[in-house]
Amino acid sequence: MRYGAITALHGISFKVERGEIVTLIGANGAGKTTTLLALSGLLPIAQGRVVFEDAPLAGLAPEAIVRRGLVQSPEGRRVFAGMTVQDNLEIGATPWRRRGQSIADDLDRVYTLFPRLAERRTQLAWSMSGGEQQMLAVGRALMGRPRLLLLDEPSLGLAPIIVEQLFDKIVDINRQGVTVLLVEQNAAMALSVAARGYLLENGRVVLQDRTERLQDHPLVREAYLGG
Ligand SMILES: Nc1ncnc2c1ncn2[C@@H]1O[C@H](COP(=O)(O)OP(=O)(O)O)[C@@H](O)[C@H]1O
Ligand SMILES: [Mg+2]
Repeated sequence: MRYGAITALHGISFKVERGEIVTLIGANGAGKTTTLLALSGLLPIAQGRVVFEDAPLAGLAPEAIVRRGLVQSPEGRRVFAGMTVQDNLEIGATPWRRRGQSIADDLDRVYTLFPRLAERRTQLAWSMSGGEQQMLAVGRALMGRPRLLLLDEPSLGLAPIIVEQLFDKIVDINRQGVTVLLVEQNAAMALSVAARGYLLENGRVVLQDRTERLQDHPLVREAYLGG
């Protein structure tokens, strides 16, 4: 993966099995977001391939990739600040909405998972807390009916207690049958919910293992779990 003359990823290889939570951890600048943008078709892939459910994705438009079931909640949440909670959610359903097709069931599912959003459905997104905005970003992605949910740093800027609540919801979403690829700088939290993980440094995978083994690895402990 390149940004102009800069090569940001150097042959990152990983897989996610159906039903898993897999995490990509790594410091700021490691290449996590670039990886997700490439999967979603938002950045061109210079070399290599992406295969999802036995079909290659490279070259497909981002909308087509969403339709296949890869849906992303972006870093920094990117909710539409001047729109209500419900309008933000409905935007996430756009690829599915056809004439006469109801999205009521999808909204119900998101509001059941996040009662806070249900209480605030007419509230403007900017006026909500960071944690609530993150719920909204995840809920908006769920409206796209993901088969693989891509989460880019959902913990960013949130207090530890809020992060714990949010990660419980990520586990709930996974138990409902959604495969999750979780990108995080917060290695402790990410390793606590994922089954397997990959450690990225400078655009390369430097470790990969089951999360309980990564949690015990000296490199991970010293550099990413605070010793
Ligand atoms: N738009 C861009 N233009 C040039 N370089 C970029 C751009 N976005 C990211 N990079 C570089 O690509 C590398 C990986 O960045 P990124 O994927 O955002 O890392 P992470 O999400 O792990 O923090 C970094 O060296 C970063 O500086
Ligand atoms: Mg990032």
